[in-house]
Amino acid sequence: MTQCIDIKDNDGYDLENFVLPTHYARDLERVLIPYGLIRDRIEKLAADIAADCTNPVVACCVLKGAHGFFAHLMESLKKQKDRKAESIPLSFEFIKVKSYENTESTGNVYISLSEEDMKSFKGKDLLICEDIIDTGRTMVALIEKLKKYEPASIRVVSLLLKKTPRSNQYVPEYVGFAIPDLFVVGYCLDYNEHFRDLDHIAVISEHGKQAYAV
Ligand code: HPA
Ligand code: MG
Repeated sequence: MTQCIDIKDNDGYDLENFVLPTHYARDLERVLIPYGLIRDRIEKLAADIAADCTNPVVACCVLKGAHGFFAHLMESLKKQKDRKAESIPLSFEFIKVKSYENTESTGNVYISLSEEDMKSFKGKDLLICEDIIDTGRTMVALIEKLKKYEPASIRVVSLLLKKTPRSNQYVPEYVGFAIPDLFVVGYCLDYNEHFRDLDHIAVISEHGKQAYAV
């Protein structure tokens, strides 16, 4: 993993410092990563990724959580130059990954792409774009599955990496922020489909957990 911003357990900002959606007034504890900082960090992730590029990139967005990150990362990547100082040809894929719980440690994932789509990965340089790596199990299983289609390379960029004892120690090539072992929402990360419409990444409050429990 290249350098990333390490957010400590008690880091963050009081809610009063930001304009937040009023419908979440009681549902957040603090802002952990302000939207502006997310955007600034993505610019650097794009530069780091571009510096390692030699070939066209097939960028795979892991839905739904990564879609905001993906859009902003691609926006930045389009403006970057590769090692030969050329612009980088990009194509996009959108995948939904479902992990099956209660399986063996290798994990098992269902990927919402046809066999035909996945066969087209042969010989390509894949860049998997994820919102958050928590235990790492889903990503490890996804990579194992994609390898069967013989891409030339697989790199993973995750906006967030959770520092949790539940981690399987998987670490992606590029990480935006290492975060404490807390449940975070916003910037398209959800809690039961809520909070995707919040710009900042924030820590959910007890009230929020209860209000949106299923
Ligand atoms: N927030 C949202 N989705 C998640 C998280 C989180 O903290 N961890 C794993 N999926
Ligand atoms: Mg995700």
